Amino acid sequence: MPTFHRVLPEADLVEGQMRGLALEGHDLLLVRTKEGLYALDNQCTHGAARLSEGRLRGVRVICPLHGASFDCRSGAVLALPARDPQRAYATRLVDGWIEVALAP
Ligand code: FES
Repeated sequence: MPTFHRVLPEADLVEGQMRGLALEGHDLLLVRTKEGLYALDNQCTHGAARLSEGRLRGVRVICPLHGASFDCRSGAVLALPARDPQRAYATRLVDGWIEVALAP
């Protein structure tokens, strides 16, 4: 059973928004779309950029530095130049809070 950590009140992240936050030394990206709530590593696998400073289009997170994009649901690469996926984490909503599990 994974350990979930409370990270943000649900009301602080509306559909179509993403934001970066620190959790136990991890730089995380939280994303909320009409499909759901997702968490990825915030540091782009391609280089020195934080995805929270990029854009969100549907389920596509676009890196601000070279424009690679990732599927927020899985971390999969959708567009080069990134070749490695973003690590994705389990999320859930409990009592109005967004929770994230760092380990499966
Ligand atoms: S640092 Fe993200 S695409 Fe290059």
